[in-house]
Amino acid sequence: MDAIFHRRSIRKYVNEAVSDEKIHKILLAGMSAPNAFATYEWNFLVIKSAEGKKKMLEAQPWAKSSENADTLILVCGDSSKEKNEMLLVQNCSAAMENMLIEATYLDLGSLWLGVYGSDEIVRDIRKAYNVPKHLIPIGVVVIGQTVQDRKPHDQFYKDQVHVESFKK
Ligand SMILES: Cc1cc2nc3c(=O)[nH]c(=O)nc-3n(C[C@H](O)[C@H](O)[C@H](O)COP(=O)(O)O)c2cc1C
Repeated sequence: MDAIFHRRSIRKYVNEAVSDEKIHKILLAGMSAPNAFATYEWNFLVIKSAEGKKKMLEAQPWAKSSENADTLILVCGDSSKEKNEMLLVQNCSAAMENMLIEATYLDLGSLWLGVYGSDEIVRDIRKAYNVPKHLIPIGVVVIGQTVQDRKPHDQFYKDQVHVESFKK
């Protein structure tokens, strides 16, 4: 699938709208990811307003690269639906990757902004967007029009591929 290889982190966006139809498709792609035990605990906060995006700049130290991007989607996992946090994180991450690939397929730039794993960022995101206690913020998918053209991946990490068993 071409979009997998063409997906790159885009850190330069142009101020152009992305249609609701495309955002819907990207959300649908997220919801089509595999999900352990089919708990479907993912929740998606769609952020489009200037005020909402400004709050991200304050809460996430690398969010500056999302400046001018049309939409930010904060992905959170519902801990009341999936009590095993390790599974919740994997499920939400699978959804995020699907969203990045779909955005690439739709000729949009995209970026994963990290949240989960930093107590500080999680705390600030919770405060900024009024995230309820039972939802665990995992990451942000940035979506927007871009003129940045990054080369597709073609590296093959041969030394990191093992066959049948690891060597003793
Ligand atoms: C869990 C996770 C967190 C990330 N957090 C950030 C981030 O906060 N800011 C950023 O610019 N890129 C972030 N990235 C993107 C990586 O930096 C990027 O995927 C990596 O450099 C490889 O480049 P590529 O996406 O173009 O293949 C994150 C990626 C993952 C998977």
